[in-house]
Amino acid sequence: MAEMTVLVIGSGAREHALARSLAADPAVAGVWVAPGGPGPAAEPGVLGCLPVDPCDGDAVAALAAELGADLVVIGPEAPLVAGVADAVRASGVACFGPSAHAAELEGSKAFAKQVMAAAGVPTAMARVCTTTEEVADALDQFGAPHVVKDDGLAAGKGVVVTGSREEALAHAAACLERPGAQVVVEDFLDGPEVSLFVLSDGTSVVPLAPAQDSKRALDGDEGPNTGGMGAYSPLPWAPAGLVDEVVATVAQPVIDEMRRRGTPFAGVLYCGLALTSRGVRVVEFNARFGDPETQVVLARLRTPLAGLLHACATGRLQSHLDDVGPLRWSSGAAVVVVLAAPGYPAATRTGGLVEGAGAGAGDEAAWVLHAGTELDAEGRLVSSGGRVLSVVGSGSDLGSARAAAYGRLASVALEGGHSRTDIARAAAEGAVVAS
Ligand code: GLY
Repeated sequence: MAEMTVLVIGSGAREHALARSLAADPAVAGVWVAPGGPGPAAEPGVLGCLPVDPCDGDAVAALAAELGADLVVIGPEAPLVAGVADAVRASGVACFGPSAHAAELEGSKAFAKQVMAAAGVPTAMARVCTTTEEVADALDQFGAPHVVKDDGLAAGKGVVVTGSREEALAHAAACLERPGAQVVVEDFLDGPEVSLFVLSDGTSVVPLAPAQDSKRALDGDEGPNTGGMGAYSPLPWAPAGLVDEVVATVAQPVIDEMRRRGTPFAGVLYCGLALTSRGVRVVEFNARFGDPETQVVLARLRTPLAGLLHACATGRLQSHLDDVGPLRWSSGAAVVVVLAAPGYPAATRTGGLVEGAGAGAGDEAAWVLHAGTELDAEGRLVSSGGRVLSVVGSGSDLGSARAAAYGRLASVALEGGHSRTDIARAAAEGAVVAS
């Protein structure tokens, strides 16, 4: 399809990255973002940002119709689980994002475990618990380190991995306070983690380049879990054949199982993996692009994005791939570093002045993608969320991409803001080992 108009739903740095890549596709006439923010609004090729409740399917469908959108791309998980993709499709507009039923792969950890069991996908042993007594028993069965996951969506706060039985029990008890809640207690998976995004139209699949994110708040993977403080791609340490193995043993079987159940999964299946001493295991699935991994994966993708996502949304992925050939990637590297607000993640303080965060159009080596930013009454850029922005650096290798990202980050100022200083360092130094 020539001259597509695309509407991206969401307001994070992931959606800013999606809008930037979609706008760079020659088949795209223009991109709208809703609700977006000051970052995507200033991005070349973005026509503007418009207010909408991302979880209101009727409102999103009406906005798509008003804009004459040919494709809606839904970024975050909450609208997917709320059925926004179903509402957009029902209105006759192509939508990249799974149905509410299919998004349960992310919306319920227990459901994802059932699907994996049915599809023969390797994952951690787990028990679904509804009482603290069951949790205590499961913690003792699996031993430390303890892994306790809220069954439902928890905006990045649902998973606790800890050596402390008390902390694990306290997290489970807090989750179980909600009526009808359940938690999943799992065996701990050792080994480095990999995020692999696999695009699908419900039948065919195509993997993107793998990335690794850093979820802990502090250097050295210390501190509390966050939504993600940085990421990099490629993974020079990953075993040859990893992507093919994950497609064959994880992604395609899950896509086939979802179709068999009558709830086909069309969108991006985010495979969160651990490369354990016993082989590849699924840590979790998400039903959307990861943040911040998307920022580095898209920085390296050379195949136009809009055509790919439109083909997934319209059941034509294989014929599109037959037309465009294998996905093309930059041979270089990309590193993203997140700048977080003071107090993030436990007690985020917003409203701080953000300086030096112009989107960096025209800068090939490094650019800024906005997440938690807004303009105040005087038109100044201020922080409005925990993860304030992402700085992406690209280069011929991880070392130069790191230098580009951290060099650009040094010119951004946010009082009390914090970021990790070690994103991709171990990989750049050849110090990551996969068994
Ligand atoms: N980076 C982790 C996530 O997107 O869930």
